[in-house]
Amino acid sequence: MSRVAHPAGPRHGDVLPADHPPAAPEDLNELHPGIWPRGARRSGGVLTLGGVDVRDLAAEFGTPLYVCDEEDIRSRCRDYLEAFGPDSHVFYAAKAFCSRAVLRWVSSQGLGVDVCTGGELEVALSAGVPPAQITMHGNNKTLDELSRAVSAGVGHIVADSFEEIARLAYLTEGATTRPSILVRVTTGVEAHTHEFMATAHDDQKFGFSLASGAADEAVRRVIACPGLSFAGLHSHIGSQIFDTAGFEVAAHRVVELAVRIRDEHGIEIAELDLGGGFGIAYTDEDDAPEVKELAQNLRDIVDGQCRLAGLARPRLTVEPGRGIVGPSTVSLYTVGTIKDVDGLRTYVSVDGGMSDNIRTALYDAEYVCALASRASAAPPMLSRVVGRHCESGDIVVRHAYLPSDLAPGDLLAVPATGAYCRSLASNYNHVSRPPVVAVSSGAARTIVRRETLDDLLSLDVG
Ligand SMILES: Cc1ncc(COP(=O)(O)O)c(C=O)c1O
Repeated sequence: MSRVAHPAGPRHGDVLPADHPPAAPEDLNELHPGIWPRGARRSGGVLTLGGVDVRDLAAEFGTPLYVCDEEDIRSRCRDYLEAFGPDSHVFYAAKAFCSRAVLRWVSSQGLGVDVCTGGELEVALSAGVPPAQITMHGNNKTLDELSRAVSAGVGHIVADSFEEIARLAYLTEGATTRPSILVRVTTGVEAHTHEFMATAHDDQKFGFSLASGAADEAVRRVIACPGLSFAGLHSHIGSQIFDTAGFEVAAHRVVELAVRIRDEHGIEIAELDLGGGFGIAYTDEDDAPEVKELAQNLRDIVDGQCRLAGLARPRLTVEPGRGIVGPSTVSLYTVGTIKDVDGLRTYVSVDGGMSDNIRTALYDAEYVCALASRASAAPPMLSRVVGRHCESGDIVVRHAYLPSDLAPGDLLAVPATGAYCRSLASNYNHVSRPPVVAVSSGAARTIVRRETLDDLLSLDVG
């Protein structure tokens, strides 16, 4: 048995890039800037989040555990609002992580909330988000979901199919108030992101195609429906996007549609929603744009396109999900078995895995991690952090250099797990989903409790 230590690299097909710099031992005690929550500190090797020692969190709440820094989320809300300015709207895309506490925080900071199912809508309403500040999304909203959205008085409904426009027409027949409708447009943009995170190329399920003329037809049908108020257009090109070129093409095509709408119907669109998708850093290689710079680019793009087309600038809305909650949260795990695969790497098994973070398996996502419960001066060993599930793809961190004295019982922390981790969590292998604990000013409280085995058994009615 031998541990592969610095500077030896892996000798296997699935390997680190050849030029990957092996971490120097002292780097193991550094936090990668920009990847950890703003309130993360490390002293004597021990990580504190929002002023709380992770060893205390693990002792009180158990592991695996999502630890969410409330002030990090609030400060990112403020960043987005400030960057986009008072003449734009920022809506938090609740699919990234939907809990009442988080929706209250973002709402109290002045953001609206995007929901895409009846379930997310109920969470938003029960959190007290003003209905006018809710946008209802979804590519297959049921009649019940639409009915609930209409009766609750949500601010906008994003129409995604002809069936849905017909359902809305039926629901609003004879009604006195008319819901505001955005038409979701598929712009044909190939966003530079993972295939499963791109949503504006023609060959997928969302929205109305511009290329086929379906988007023009959808607008016609919404305008023709007396119970509906046509508010504008929506485009979302994908997720985890780093450069604004795709937004530029999308905005250009959407503005071209706005011009046709003006020419055909004599209506200038009031609203333009460019969706979310703004990338964050998961590793040192990710060069995520500053929100300020991103906002300036998007505003310039929309201003420029509208000026060229001779249109009044519609109100701009953006819908970040990952950019608000992604960096706020750290997953804490306890190390279990440690297995050296001779000459290749060390497999470090933790007490969670693909049931609490499917992103590595689903999107080939990359993460960093750190020993969080003590200091170590041991040389780094090439490791792969894996979960406890019956899948060889059950990987949490594909490539990590961890101290070679790592031992069962140590705590490992994986940052940037606030978006699409708890919300995509499963009970695979009948593992209960971990709790989410919020930390702020040195105190911790549960905002989503841990599932118990009784919870799982109660669903199985024999
Ligand atoms: C319509 C829409 N808006 C906003 C978002 C949020 O994206 P992100 O979390 O990448 O910002 C998504 C996510 O896929 C989406 O589908």
